[in-house]
Amino acid sequence: MNVSRQTHGADALREYRAIFDNAAVGIVFTRDRTIYRCNRRSVELLGYRPGELEGLPGRDMYPSQESYEEIGRQAGPLLAAGLAFESDWQYKRRDGQLVWFHVYGRAVDPQRTDQGTVWILEDVSEARRVHEAHRQALAEMQAIMDNASVAILFTRERKLARYNPRFAELFGYPGESAIGLPGRALYPSDEDYAEIGRLASPLLSQGRPFQHEQFLQRADGSRFWANMIAYLIDPEDPGKGTIWLVEDRSQFKRAEEALQENLLQLKERNRRLEDTQSQLLQAEKMASIGQLAAGVAHEINNPVGFVSSNMRTLATYTDGLLKLIDAYAAVTEKLQLPADAAATLQALRTAIDLDYLRDDLKDLLHESDDGLQRVRQIVQDLKDFSHIDSGEWTAVDLNACIKSTLNVVWNELKYKAKIDFVPGDLPEVRCNAPQVNQVIMNLLVNAAQAIESSGTISIRSGHDGAMAWFEIEDTGSGMSEQVRKRIFEPFFTTKAVGTGTGLGLSVSYGIVNKHGGRMEVFSTPGVGTRFRVSLPIAGRPDSEPATLA
Ligand SMILES: Nc1ncnc2c1ncn2[C@@H]1O[C@H](COP(=O)(O)OP(=O)(O)O)[C@@H](O)[C@H]1O
Ligand SMILES: [Mg+2]
Repeated sequence: MNVSRQTHGADALREYRAIFDNAAVGIVFTRDRTIYRCNRRSVELLGYRPGELEGLPGRDMYPSQESYEEIGRQAGPLLAAGLAFESDWQYKRRDGQLVWFHVYGRAVDPQRTDQGTVWILEDVSEARRVHEAHRQALAEMQAIMDNASVAILFTRERKLARYNPRFAELFGYPGESAIGLPGRALYPSDEDYAEIGRLASPLLSQGRPFQHEQFLQRADGSRFWANMIAYLIDPEDPGKGTIWLVEDRSQFKRAEEALQENLLQLKERNRRLEDTQSQLLQAEKMASIGQLAAGVAHEINNPVGFVSSNMRTLATYTDGLLKLIDAYAAVTEKLQLPADAAATLQALRTAIDLDYLRDDLKDLLHESDDGLQRVRQIVQDLKDFSHIDSGEWTAVDLNACIKSTLNVVWNELKYKAKIDFVPGDLPEVRCNAPQVNQVIMNLLVNAAQAIESSGTISIRSGHDGAMAWFEIEDTGSGMSEQVRKRIFEPFFTTKAVGTGTGLGLSVSYGIVNKHGGRMEVFSTPGVGTRFRVSLPIAGRPDSEPATLA
């Protein structure tokens, strides 16, 4: 024998031995169904102590007799044919725990299969666990996709890559018919699509979700209000695509709009309530002032009555007395009075200035009569203001009323104001004509008085539904907010004593109110004032029969 060859053989054997002992895979030799050699890794994998495995039946490594027989059935023919058997197989550790190995088996000598088999075992439990978890996750994902009530869509490179049944239903793309469509197909317009890209990119590229509400488009071109949430599958690699969650928000949108609408209506109703309330307050105030006015009118009426009757008697008495004095004077002139008596009479006459007294007495009586006349007029106004249900109700041409009243007050107006009367189209209005004339007159006089030296008074009329209206507008002083608030109060005046009684507007208010009408005032200090009076064409419904005479 060649020594060097022998040495070489021993070296190789040592090397094989080292590989065998240190291999990261388990290596087990079996012959006649018995383990006769195994390496350290296989002892570890199967949970034995060194030396324990050798001599044990191969069956001991398998979970059951069936498993052992099955691997025999599968591997036997291959091994006998000199081929390798390879599979994942379940093994049993010494403590009974089951583990998965990747097994590779081959005859030690393919020419002589009775020489035994070498089995190489690799631990794949971890890989299998990972695989199993992966499969589970996928199944869960699929279940979520299939059953989600939101539409779920995956897009890649601006195309629809995958979506769930809810998406198909919501957008009207049955089955997989939308796969491959451009994302643009889901938007009403190019602009909408571009806008979404512009809004979403900055967030998505930072790995943040993007949320947005807008109209999206179905396969049939119809639109619905949608809420979208999007995020990148992998912010590090945008090419992996984007996930979109889409929810139909049409109902929320409609509900929100209805809510908004209700709110507006509520606000409007509230505003009208406030209006009504302030009108009621005003009416209430006027009603109590009206009672007061009626009381005052009544109280003044009595003394005015006896004062004027006394004044008439007084006038008769003075007349008589003056006549008597004249008669005495005539007689005494014819008589020769004693000098001292004549002087006394003359002195007295001069002292009282009889001639002047005679004239002045007439003037005084006349003036007092005027004064009483004025007091009577005020009382009448107060009465008119407090109850004005007297007088005839007839169908009246308001334009004619305005013309005749203009004639009456022409003297007051002509020096100051240019009158610009544009009569509108008006049906006959059922009303108390003298009272309405009174209103027109009060407004005209006020307008003229508001103009300091010269200006214009514009008069317009017309009708609007069931109401007839006329307006009297002046280019006068206008009034401040504080004045405007009080103009309908009796005796409220800003005019000099003797010019204004402060009754014109309160009387007018009472008249218009009794007619079931409305009086509005618009005024700007320094610019002018516009009064607008509206009257029901058919007359006041509850105090008058509604039929026109
Ligand atoms: N056209 C008007 N322009 C400016 N102020 C007005 C006008 N009409 C009425 N007013 C204001 O309303 C007040 C009340 O008017 P009114 O009741 O007619 O009483 P009077 O005219 O006797 O003062 C007036 O004193 C004035 O301050
Ligand atoms: Mg007046």
